[in-house]
Amino acid sequence: MWFLPLVLCVRTARTSKLLAPWYRPAAFVSTLLISQPQYAWLKELGLPEENQGVQNGRNLVSLEMGKILVEGVGEVQEYVDICDYAVGLSRIRGPILPSERSGHALIGQWNPVGLVGIITVLDFPVAVYGWNNAIAMICRNVCLWKGAPATSLITVAVTKIIAKVLEDNKLPGAICSLTCGGADIGTAMAKDERVNLLSFTRSTQRFGRSLLELAGNNAIIAFEDADLSLVVPSRCTAVRRLFLHESIHDEVVNRLKKAYAQICIGKPWDSKVLFGPHHTKLAVNIFLGAVEEAKKEGGTVIYGGKVMDCPGNYIELTIVIDLTHDASIAHTETFAPILYVFKFKNEEEVFAWNNEVKQGLSSSIFTKDLGRIFHWLGPKGSDCGIVNVNIPVSGAEIGGAFGGEKHTGGGRASGSDAWKQYMRRSTCTINYSKDLPLAQGIKFQ
Ligand SMILES: *[C@@H]1O[C@H](CO)[C@@H](O)[C@H](O)[C@H]1NC(C)=O
Repeated sequence: MWFLPLVLCVRTARTSKLLAPWYRPAAFVSTLLISQPQYAWLKELGLPEENQGVQNGRNLVSLEMGKILVEGVGEVQEYVDICDYAVGLSRIRGPILPSERSGHALIGQWNPVGLVGIITVLDFPVAVYGWNNAIAMICRNVCLWKGAPATSLITVAVTKIIAKVLEDNKLPGAICSLTCGGADIGTAMAKDERVNLLSFTRSTQRFGRSLLELAGNNAIIAFEDADLSLVVPSRCTAVRRLFLHESIHDEVVNRLKKAYAQICIGKPWDSKVLFGPHHTKLAVNIFLGAVEEAKKEGGTVIYGGKVMDCPGNYIELTIVIDLTHDASIAHTETFAPILYVFKFKNEEEVFAWNNEVKQGLSSSIFTKDLGRIFHWLGPKGSDCGIVNVNIPVSGAEIGGAFGGEKHTGGGRASGSDAWKQYMRRSTCTINYSKDLPLAQGIKFQ
């Protein structure tokens, strides 16, 4: 798979001693790339033979973009180099950390983000895509590339080569797709939420960094083999959505009601109290609004739902059932102790329901099934930053990176490499020799 830029590179490098085509005699016409059967697609694109850019393709970068030949070759070489580098990185693994809790495993897991949008510019029409594409692919992502409008032919040629290598390896060529166009297409890519990560290279654009910790809309999933005494959450206020397998739904709901009845609500300085008042009247109104909305969307309040009849902003712990998994209120983060309980039938649907909200902080499953546990941790499992098994969604050890994905922000606090986000990074090159070797082995004669 990592041979992919070699074809392009070899084609370009072999001919690097040739004169630029505009000095070339007419005899070269017989070797027109566009006339060779394997490049018939250039004709399919509607390109005429007299187009300079398709005359023999050996230095397409120079022809279409105007970069001198050695630099065009160097750019392709850079793509080859980054592929080599990416292969070396490709066994990406997270750390296994010693947990401070006995009988617990703490695993740092890296999963693909999904679709990486890559927007590149005119000055490096091959290499910049290469940097992004090679790393994105060894991270098991798929790519959508928009090159500069002025170098569409290079974008098409590179994509064709990659597609061939992918297909030769029995993978769909569309893993690395392209779209041509201008700023309108770039803006559409930036706005589209299906593009999970957008890499945008542009000289004048300023991109700030952000370290965000936003709302979670956390979920717990309990399967039929769950230990029910663990499921009934001890810190009930941290979980918003509870998915229960249909076979245990009624029993867990009953246990929850009993557990809630035992929670002492009162003055927060009293040591018996587990749940205190809300901070403001506004928060109380937000709670009431959410309960009303849940009822409107078909929910049934089976516990709580009211403001308590006493001074202070006290509200009842609340359980709502009968909502569908995609009810808009359940997709809205409300900072109030409302638990939405759902019934599910199988693993596939419930993992999808866990992931279908815009937030992605914390998530837990309760099960004893080993296959299901690793499915949950893997690329098709939870898309949250915190992915737990047989423990609730709340509480985190400082040894693991803490934070959420998607609208929750993507930032990480604490944990082994959170420090990287607080640093400015420098790559320093010092020449202490007598020569001036160039990167990518470029030589100016
Ligand atoms: C750095 O590079 C130049 C070539 O441009 C070379 O002549 C010079 O000796 C090098 N080393 C130092 C210490 O300047």
